[in-house]
Amino acid sequence: MRFATLLLTISFVAVLAITARAQDEVQRFNCSSSRTCHALIDYVSPNTATLNSIKTLFGVKNLRSLLGANSMALSTSPNKTVASGSTIKIPFQCNCTNGTGKSNRRPVYKVQKGDGLDHIARDVFVGLLKYQRIVEVNNITNPDLIEVGQELWIPLPCSCDDVDTEQVVHYAHVVPPGSSIEQIADKYGTTKDTLLKLNGITDPSKLQAGEVLDVPLKACTSMVSTNSLDYPLLISNGTYTFTANNCVQCKCDSANNWTLQCGPSEGVKISNWDKCPSMQCNGTGNLHIGNTTSSTDCGSTTCAYAGYTNQAILTILSNQSTCPAGSPSSPPSSPPSSLPSSPPSSPPSSLPSSPPSSLPSSPPSSPSNYASKISLGGSNSRFLLVSLELCFLCFGLLW
Ligand SMILES: *[C@@H]1O[C@H](CO)[C@@H](O)[C@H](O)[C@H]1NC(C)=O
Ligand SMILES: *[C@@H]1O[C@H](CO)[C@@H](O)[C@H](O)[C@H]1NC(C)=O
Ligand SMILES: *[C@@H]1O[C@H](CO)[C@@H](O)[C@H](O)[C@H]1NC(C)=O
Ligand SMILES: *[C@@H]1O[C@H](CO)[C@@H](O)[C@H](O)[C@H]1NC(C)=O
Ligand SMILES: *[C@@H]1O[C@H](CO)[C@@H](O)[C@H](O)[C@H]1NC(C)=O
Ligand SMILES: *[C@@H]1O[C@H](CO)[C@@H](O)[C@H](O)[C@H]1NC(C)=O
Ligand SMILES: *[C@@H]1O[C@H](CO)[C@@H](O)[C@H](O)[C@H]1NC(C)=O
Ligand SMILES: *[C@@H]1O[C@H](CO)[C@@H](O)[C@H](O)[C@H]1NC(C)=O
Ligand SMILES: *[C@@H]1O[C@H](CO)[C@@H](O)[C@H](O)[C@H]1NC(C)=O
Ligand SMILES: *[C@@H]1O[C@H](CO)[C@@H](O)[C@H](O)[C@H]1NC(C)=O
Repeated sequence: MRFATLLLTISFVAVLAITARAQDEVQRFNCSSSRTCHALIDYVSPNTATLNSIKTLFGVKNLRSLLGANSMALSTSPNKTVASGSTIKIPFQCNCTNGTGKSNRRPVYKVQKGDGLDHIARDVFVGLLKYQRIVEVNNITNPDLIEVGQELWIPLPCSCDDVDTEQVVHYAHVVPPGSSIEQIADKYGTTKDTLLKLNGITDPSKLQAGEVLDVPLKACTSMVSTNSLDYPLLISNGTYTFTANNCVQCKCDSANNWTLQCGPSEGVKISNWDKCPSMQCNGTGNLHIGNTTSSTDCGSTTCAYAGYTNQAILTILSNQSTCPAGSPSSPPSSPPSSLPSSPPSSPPSSLPSSPPSSLPSSPPSSPSNYASKISLGGSNSRFLLVSLELCFLCFGLLW
């Protein structure tokens, strides 16, 4: 009996230790769909920077994508400074391959004199990824041998998977010092349980500042059809974007019943097309994308954006009931014809200004840059555990 109990206890302890170790290694940003989608990642600027320099570092095509993702006015100067320690959300295309999401061939970093892979991952891209990911996707055979001028694809973590059967914007959020998983869930309109599950976290108290969490952001519902080139057009609350070769601007505002609002863009250079194709809804006289009419006493019809193809912009008529069905629900009253070209400017998401540090900050950067060392560490400790258990086992048998 004693023997059995002892054995059980030892095994239990060993299993606990092993799972605790394995937990650190749970792969985040799983992506089983074979899609590409729009994703976001935090960049906590290590020094004072300009929007333009951040745009360049991350290979963001247009400043307006950066502005849209950060709810900044379209008129914001590229020279606007970003204070050291403040956070900018980087928009990018995510491509799911091999079970995980990666930024699609972007950003590309050109190796400079004195660079090492670990330095690039840890300092230039502020720990958003481990250098091993750079090694993998760039097919680097010797991580200690990279050449000045060599161009490296930096695979930022992301996902395109649905969360609880809903299409969401996956936001790779850098955990600010002093925050808790509850606060993060609260701030971004999700739940603690969803965050724990999505990120494979079993012990939230181990959450560390600087970790990259997969935070699913609710997106506005849109009428964009599955055969559209920009499907799924997922836009999170408070942000805006340009689509259909820049002919159309869309924004998401939770106050508009989480319905995407699109209209013809203004003052933006269009791409690929000489001019924007018709944005008129068929059979409606003169209704264009974004126009709404109160057609009946108790309803309104909107000419909504439904996506685009190489030749055309698709439209669809969508009816909303504005009847006060029980509650005095206020109809979406903002005239879509006046789609703001510059949404309310708000500061780039709350800055981590000297927060109370209830969270342990990231472990100090290790000077080691050797993949073999790191993985050896892992197997070493596991080997130790197994040996330990074997010893105890023999001990138990002698008992
Ligand atoms: C930004 O700064 C550069 C150089 O400092 C200047 O040439 C450019 O005109 C500025 N752009 C704007 C929009 O202010
Ligand atoms: C996604 O990545 C894979 C592998 O790198 C590539 O073959 C595929 O074309 C990419 N998908 C898109 C839509 O770019
Ligand atoms: C896919 O992932 C596995 C392990 O996760 C890895 O061994 C393999 O090299 C990856 N394949 C590609 C093409 O990236
Ligand atoms: C990766 O590099 C090795 C050695 O240089 C080469 O044999 C292999 O074909 C490369 N694989 C890819 C996918 O580029
Ligand atoms: C991601 O997928 C891997 C392999 O399927 C699995 O072991 C891991 O637990 C998954 N991670 C999360 C957070 O679900
Ligand atoms: C949506 O964003 C606006 C600011 O753009 C904010 O006031 C509002 O609370 C947000 N709604 C939700 C549900 O997060
Ligand atoms: C809000 O949107 C939902 C689904 O998107 C719809 O069923 C509901 O009628 C809308 N409510 C109002 C007041 O427009
Ligand atoms: C609108 O109607 C015209 C002619 O009736 C048709 O050729 C065109 O495809 C329609 N457009 C859409 C977006 O349905
Ligand atoms: C929308 O309402 C109009 C009349 O107001 C009607 O003719 C049309 O069929 C409705 N469309 C849909 C999709 O329900
Ligand atoms: C439809 O919206 C456009 C701007 O997008 C506006 O110029 C036009 O007057 C609107 N038409 C109607 C019928 O409201």
